[in-house]
Amino acid sequence: MTIKSVLRMGDAQLLNIAEPVVHFGTEELRCLLADMRDTMQALNGVGLAAPQIGVPLRVVIFSVQANTRYPDAEVISETVLINPVITLLDDLRNEDWEGCLSLPGLRGRVARHTHIRYQGFDEQGIAIDRIVSGFHARVVQHECDHLDGILYPLRITDLRQFGFGKELFPDSNINDD
Ligand code: NI
Repeated sequence: MTIKSVLRMGDAQLLNIAEPVVHFGTEELRCLLADMRDTMQALNGVGLAAPQIGVPLRVVIFSVQANTRYPDAEVISETVLINPVITLLDDLRNEDWEGCLSLPGLRGRVARHTHIRYQGFDEQGIAIDRIVSGFHARVVQHECDHLDGILYPLRITDLRQFGFGKELFPDSNINDD
């Protein structure tokens, strides 16, 4: 399909509340997901939300293979998650660095819930229901935030821990994206 350009922070479309998907298994949805997959892979991202390519629907994808942006990250098989619902399983949180394809080159330290359950549907409308923790839980929370118009800098409590990856981590070979 097509590698789309990713909207960057400052674009008002990223602040909107996305709409639920009503019809599953459609050609429209298949094309959207193909574009999202191609775009995410081309930019070496771990996740992408439909609003980031200008489509205001509650659709996210994520996939963690061996990834140079997150060399220590656990592997997460590719997941299409539509109309997601997150349930917090306890009050535990952990902090870690995040990046986002809508803020190229930047990194920020964000507290996320450690243990979550997420539910939703795949592109065929088949239910997904998983209990996850750590990095997997972080990715899901980051992507689902996009559906509510929330970019990760809005979650940073100490803005001294926000900046350009190359400056924050001068010894790493972090990508400039
Ligand atoms: Ni993002």
